[in-house]
Amino acid sequence: MTNLQDKKVYDIESFNKEDWSSAYKNVEKELTKEPLKISRGKSIKNLNGTLLRNGPGILERGGQWVHHPFDGDGMITSIKFENGKPFLTNRFVKTKGYLEEEKINKFIYRGVFGTQKNGGILNNVLDLKFKNIANTHVVKLGDEVLALWEAAGPHALNPDNLDTIGLTTLNGVLSPNEAFSAHPKIDLNSKTSSELLVTFGVQTGPKSTIRLMEFNNAGENSGELLIDRKDTFNGFAFLHDFAITTNWAIFLQNAIDFNPLPFVMGQKGAAQCLKSNPNKKAKFFIIPRESGLFRGQPPLIIDAPEGFVFHHVNAYEKDCKIILDSIFYDDFPSVGPDENFRNIDFDKYPEGKLKRSTINLKSKTSELETISEQCCEFGVVNPKNLGLPATFSWMASTSQKQGNAPLQAIKKINLISKEELSWSAGPSGFVSEPIMVPSEKSSEEDDGFLFIILWNGKRRGSDLVILDAKDLKELAVYELPISIPHGLHGSWVN
Ligand SMILES: [Fe+2]
Repeated sequence: MTNLQDKKVYDIESFNKEDWSSAYKNVEKELTKEPLKISRGKSIKNLNGTLLRNGPGILERGGQWVHHPFDGDGMITSIKFENGKPFLTNRFVKTKGYLEEEKINKFIYRGVFGTQKNGGILNNVLDLKFKNIANTHVVKLGDEVLALWEAAGPHALNPDNLDTIGLTTLNGVLSPNEAFSAHPKIDLNSKTSSELLVTFGVQTGPKSTIRLMEFNNAGENSGELLIDRKDTFNGFAFLHDFAITTNWAIFLQNAIDFNPLPFVMGQKGAAQCLKSNPNKKAKFFIIPRESGLFRGQPPLIIDAPEGFVFHHVNAYEKDCKIILDSIFYDDFPSVGPDENFRNIDFDKYPEGKLKRSTINLKSKTSELETISEQCCEFGVVNPKNLGLPATFSWMASTSQKQGNAPLQAIKKINLISKEELSWSAGPSGFVSEPIMVPSEKSSEEDDGFLFIILWNGKRRGSDLVILDAKDLKELAVYELPISIPHGLHGSWVN
């Protein structure tokens, strides 16, 4: 096991908010197979594969800004490595709403996170239609590349040039525009297939139904739905992410209420109507995977710890327990109707912390332990360890040890010893979710690369940074020919 020592490379010099907020602007152009020039380090010999990233690419139209970057239309970036040489292609996802708004350069849809149409409450009241913005994640399923947004169906893209093919039902698996999570898990350890894509969709209301789907994602019948299961739970469910183990799919239903009235009345976006309810208990919904030992059995419902979770890092089974690592917030972080997201006061928002839930399936109880007090998000493990015990996790974190601030560092943490190692892009660099690509030659868990799209506040542009996953040494930096706003999720396709 690698012994990690905190190298204390943190740059404690405070960040400049304009360096951070300057990333929030529209992506200006679409490029095709643009060769990238290395600006520091050396290219990775024999590297082949494609980095795919999704995130908001349109944040302003006709002088009106979105209220929250999560309301921005999706823009996909692909960086394809051919024997170590990278080529960039980027495309907006040409959704129906994107095309309509692009034509007149004006927002004509309200956003879930609070973007309103011009014209005040009267122009927004009772307008409940929404735009599928396809901005959250991008993955390969079968022969297709899918741009995902959790409240509606996936958009299929041409894998070669990222041109939008259109909304897909995945060969009839989904009903038209059926909700399809933006957090699929790739299971490389199943007996069913060498690669499974496990995902879900939620239909919510006074009762909520989770549809759990497992697709074959390798070989001849890649893209085929193998397993399909539906479970209904009482109450409104807000489920952004989930976790899998060999036998279980684990959902954390936060203790929140949804009061749709301000949304219906045109005052708030739907997500701004979510509110923590201190009198409520969060719940784990633990659904047996139909490929596992407990197929056909009903789900377990177990009280969960206090706090709010968007993202899980990993889960695994140990004896009769599930160990689940997640990023916990003290409360639901939402940008209020009178706040400007480009000028938020970080101190007023709860920070994410890496915590471990131990869920006892026998006693039906759970316990919470804090792994690290430092603010972080976007935690990953080696994809080969997903659903199994993992020693290491990599994540985006603040440069500073305490309090909330933009994510400026990449941290590696030993989940057993809790030792940490960090690489900081501070004071003027801002990181995103690290994509961990394991080394093909080595079976060591931390042998591989980390790919990070970074906002370089100094030159007001985006860089691709490749780090060594073992020691976080900077291997290569490429200055990108497009500026990419702070983004969301991505994947690596071999
Ligand atoms: Fe997410």
